[in-house]
Amino acid sequence: MKGLFITGTDTGIGKTIASAALLHRYRKSSPLRYWKAIQTGTDDDTATVRRLATCEDREIFDDGIRLEAPVSPHQAAELAGTRIDLTRLRDSVPADDTTRWIVEGAGGVLVPVNEIHLMSDWMAMLGLPVVVVARSTLGTINHTLLTLEALHSRWIKPVGVFMVGDLVPANRAAIERYGNVPVLGQMPFFNSLTADAIATWSAANLDPKEILAPYFAPATP
Ligand SMILES: Nc1ncnc2c1ncn2[C@@H]1O[C@H](COP(=O)(O)OP(=O)(O)OP(=O)(O)O)[C@@H](O)[C@H]1O
Ligand SMILES: [Mg+2]
Repeated sequence: MKGLFITGTDTGIGKTIASAALLHRYRKSSPLRYWKAIQTGTDDDTATVRRLATCEDREIFDDGIRLEAPVSPHQAAELAGTRIDLTRLRDSVPADDTTRWIVEGAGGVLVPVNEIHLMSDWMAMLGLPVVVVARSTLGTINHTLLTLEALHSRWIKPVGVFMVGDLVPANRAAIERYGNVPVLGQMPFFNSLTADAIATWSAANLDPKEILAPYFAPATP
């Protein structure tokens, strides 16, 4: 599997919107496919991405764990009388060398998925480098650096940080300096969050240095 894993410093931080933005930005490079592998609660991130990235059917893999309780995956599974099996989940991925994946996590890096595995184990099992979505405002330096440290200590590569909210240049600079990682973009809060707004913003502002291009590069024959 090739592509990127989208995690965040928190739940509700902007991972789904960032995934839609990445589709707008990089779908011209390779066939991209979005996957919310583990979804808890009644929000439907897959439907949101389908709408906000105006996806064709082939750009969505609408499969995986779907649990109704709006709690951590390990608990939602327990409440449903089941257990999340990461190996089985990974084996459900269709083999296809040309697809580049955008896999969205649930919550952040150390969210439990069962009695032994954390979301970080899922990232490691897929072998995907990671984009960290973080808010732009006060408190983000600590949350983002903690997240980056948790990734590094598990040998998972963070390739960049995607910030959401009002521009706070000092926070952005501190994350790049102390986290030793590029900020790929700073998406403002849109009053009207539409596919057009995300597409326009992404084309002009997301990853201008094309740091993510290698992860979405087409398969070489
Ligand atoms: N740039 C933005 N402009 C306006 N609203 C935004 C923006 N980014 C995120 N939001 C809103 O913030 C909320 C949380 O964003 P999002 O669903 O992307 O978070 P998440 O990290 O994917 O959450 P989860 O952990 O549930 O998957 C959503 O209601 C979303 O519409
Ligand atoms: Mg989401």
